Amino acid sequence: MAFNNRIKIKHLLETDSVGERVTVMGWVRTRRSNKHVTFIALNDGSCIQNYQIVADPAKIDDDTLKKANTGACLKITGAVVASQGAGQSSEIQADLVEILGEADPDKFPIQPKKHSLEFLRENAHLRIRTNTFGAIFRIRHHLAFAVHQYFHQKGFFYLHSPIITASDAEGAGETFQVTALDLKNPPRDQNNNIDFREDFFERATNLTVSGQLEGELAALALSEIYTFGPTFRAENSNTTRHLAEFWMIEPEMAFYDAEDNQNLAEDFLKYIIGFALENCQEDLAFLDKRAAEEEKNKKAEQRSELGLLERLELVTKNTFERITYSEALEILKNSKPNKKKKFAYPIEDWGTDLQSEHERFLVEKHFKKPVIITDYPKSIKSFYMKQNEDGKTVAAMDILFPGIGEIIGGSQREERLDKLTERMQELDISQEEMWWYLDTRRFGTTPHSGFGLGFERLVQFVTGMGNIRDVIPFPRTPGNAEF
Ligand code: 4AD
Ligand code: MG
Repeated sequence: MAFNNRIKIKHLLETDSVGERVTVMGWVRTRRSNKHVTFIALNDGSCIQNYQIVADPAKIDDDTLKKANTGACLKITGAVVASQGAGQSSEIQADLVEILGEADPDKFPIQPKKHSLEFLRENAHLRIRTNTFGAIFRIRHHLAFAVHQYFHQKGFFYLHSPIITASDAEGAGETFQVTALDLKNPPRDQNNNIDFREDFFERATNLTVSGQLEGELAALALSEIYTFGPTFRAENSNTTRHLAEFWMIEPEMAFYDAEDNQNLAEDFLKYIIGFALENCQEDLAFLDKRAAEEEKNKKAEQRSELGLLERLELVTKNTFERITYSEALEILKNSKPNKKKKFAYPIEDWGTDLQSEHERFLVEKHFKKPVIITDYPKSIKSFYMKQNEDGKTVAAMDILFPGIGEIIGGSQREERLDKLTERMQELDISQEEMWWYLDTRRFGTTPHSGFGLGFERLVQFVTGMGNIRDVIPFPRTPGNAEF
């Protein structure tokens, strides 16, 4: 006989099962007892709610009930009856309680009380059993599903770009090396440098920072593709918005110019956030309350004017503001915080990159809605971006979100071979090594565009979590790869 004949708690709560005899399995959140009866709140992760189990000490032996501590895993069979208590319409009157896994109450770290996020990060293997993290990871699933659904419906193909590559697409030099060489005794060339020609791939390789370049190859064959995979950056940024391993969604489309690209990005974000609003109502309601509690602990000037759900609707219901980098710079130059020298990085000459304090000012204080900034100076953007007629700017776009700053980065691509090689020369990027990329411009080139959405920044925005480490199951950051 198969072991799993259980009913999920989500199903029990959604359907009228009164009168049926069912089996549920899950983990004890709390247990309350008196002489006559024991109440167990059981959670199986299928939804945020616990299910109430009523155990009569006359039917269930004392020893078993004593082991049903917070954290223990139970299998319970009994009749579903209408519930007397408030908050839940039914409960199970247990006639069989089996302890699947005990949990020593003195040692189990997750107690039925509020733990700090820092403490839970140190217990990332168990934090998934809390309401907050259960909600976050259910929402994360729904967002990933919505990404695939959106592109599938539009006829885009999911492309698996490689994880190990020999290129640094963004040219920022922040890659993790991949090698099978013996680090204690690596082969050396004439100049005493490590000789990667003797390595596994017969060249130096690294973990990918982006699937874009390979995505471009595929877009110039399949028209519209997207990648959705892990990317790796060895940037030493200890911020609330950076991970060393994060997931990125990178659509790439032939026959799209910069404006088509912006239209797609805006429509895409509205769709996936709308999908979460529709399909994750209970989890979002919980996180909305949680975020409101957190706000109370903040200083007045740091408090968000809107609640979590209101912020999500701000995105789905508003047209994003679209301005050029030069326009953004003018707004910032004349802004109050700049004049009062409140910015840590005062706005200076045209050409400097925007810092997250500037991005957040534009989104949260000035426009109060998402902003798409276009046409950045070419000197601060990657080699592959299409050069504008003015000779100074490129057809880039960054999408900025409240509380997050940059959530999407993208551009129209430089499809003209001469312009592209000229730029590569200026930036000292080897055309020899990138021959395969340049071939797309040699054979059947066409205008094309794409962008990258940082998946964790999206999950952060939707769940209202302040730290990106709390929206990925096992975060990788400088000094952290424990679990
Ligand atoms: O702006 P980025 O570096 O753009 C690219 O990688 C392009 N190849 C995308 C493209 O055009 N196909 O990164 C894209 C997004 C950022 O906007 C941000 O949301 C996220 O990826 N991101 C990070 N998220 C978490 N941790 C990090 N260290 C991140 N770096 C970028
Ligand atoms: Mg960027």
